[in-house]
Amino acid sequence: MAPRTDMPKKKSSVAKRGSPAKIVADSTRYLMNTYRRPSVVFTHGRGCRLYDSQGRAYLDFLAGIAVNALGYAHPRMVRVIRREAGRATHISNLFHNPYQGSLARKLAEWSGLDRVFFSNSGAEAMEGALKLARAYAHAKAGAGGGAPKTRILALENSFHGRTFGALSITYTPKYRAPFEPLVPGVEFVRVNDVADLESKFDASVCAVVIEPIQGEGGIFPISEAFWKRARELATKYDAALIADEIQSGLGRTGRYFAYQRFGEDSLPDVVTVAKPLAGGLPLGAFIASEQFASAFTPGMHGSTFGGGPLVCAAALEFLTIVEEDELLANVRARGIELRAGLEELATRFDFIREVRGEGLILGIDLAIEGAAFVQEALQRSLLINCTHDHILRLLPPFIIRRADVTEFLRKLEAVLATAQKSAAKARTAAHPTHAASHGTSLASAAAR
Ligand SMILES: Cc1ncc(COP(=O)(O)O)c(C=O)c1O
Repeated sequence: MAPRTDMPKKKSSVAKRGSPAKIVADSTRYLMNTYRRPSVVFTHGRGCRLYDSQGRAYLDFLAGIAVNALGYAHPRMVRVIRREAGRATHISNLFHNPYQGSLARKLAEWSGLDRVFFSNSGAEAMEGALKLARAYAHAKAGAGGGAPKTRILALENSFHGRTFGALSITYTPKYRAPFEPLVPGVEFVRVNDVADLESKFDASVCAVVIEPIQGEGGIFPISEAFWKRARELATKYDAALIADEIQSGLGRTGRYFAYQRFGEDSLPDVVTVAKPLAGGLPLGAFIASEQFASAFTPGMHGSTFGGGPLVCAAALEFLTIVEEDELLANVRARGIELRAGLEELATRFDFIREVRGEGLILGIDLAIEGAAFVQEALQRSLLINCTHDHILRLLPPFIIRRADVTEFLRKLEAVLATAQKSAAKARTAAHPTHAASHGTSLASAAAR
């Protein structure tokens, strides 16, 4: 048989890795200065463990900030990604691809909503959801001959992403201020303050946006009373109730969506997802009820990459694994164990103010700065994160076992003890008389 001339000859990949020192030097010199990183270089992972360039294993309770729900190199995900990479990574949204429709159907089933649009990230999903709410308001106003309503209500302490629209509904001033003016018409409501919500909600509002559990804000669950009132007001004023479940959704709470805690009669009109959706590949989506989704007609919204065959096949596999391996039950069981262990630690370390969250989205609210704890954890081969300076955030993979929880709690205890000692030492050095008169209770010294 004649050799095929259309296939490239086998060559070794040019994407070779440099030494860890070179990697860090190049990153420091050539990347924009947007992330603060430790000098460790992670090269690969297996299950719940991530490995650095020296081959040291870390127990990962951060999971790429809620992305790697199946851990690393899950054999079924690897198989699907390899298979699709050998077929077509991209086709374009001008055509059907084999997986987008089935994936949309599954997301509709999981969410209780009707129609899906695929994006490439969480922020982009938020942009689309906001555009849909405005399009719906425009369509309604056009039909009735009036002016469209345009105001958007978001919550204090919220985080929805870094693009202009998503940033406009994100509360934290340090994220917003350097980029102002942002999209106009946004007003912030105090978290779980029903009276504040009622006072700001009227017929000029086209959308209210809520993370059912605020993630980046420090793992603050939304109360049932607040959610249900938001639902009532959105219905009353024909506005969209948008749930941002980019961090809390797709199984992390032990339910498909965190809002399912509020019952089947209290669904949002739109929900956004991203992070774990395609098992580590970039894919986001917003899912809407037929009522709101019908505001989009061909040409009104689009994306070159969103929902390509490779990412959709991976996402379909992820959702199927969650179902077939009964991972929601695992999330609930491990979540209960983890929380109980954290609450026990809180009785012994008086600088732990509160443990919050549900399933495998948990926050440990400290009365002191958390950065030292994250550093100490890294030293002890543990990956965690700190948000808003003093809230340790845990977002482990859905596949963790009881033994992983036990190991985590044992290591965390050592981290808390060490960091407590060094913080006390630093305080004694900085304020010798204050420390002497107040002892070493970090909670009393540093409570804010
Ligand atoms: C609740 C929430 N919304 C939106 C986003 C933005 O997602 P992305 O970083 O994929 O744009 C995030 C990311 O952390 C998030 O946690």
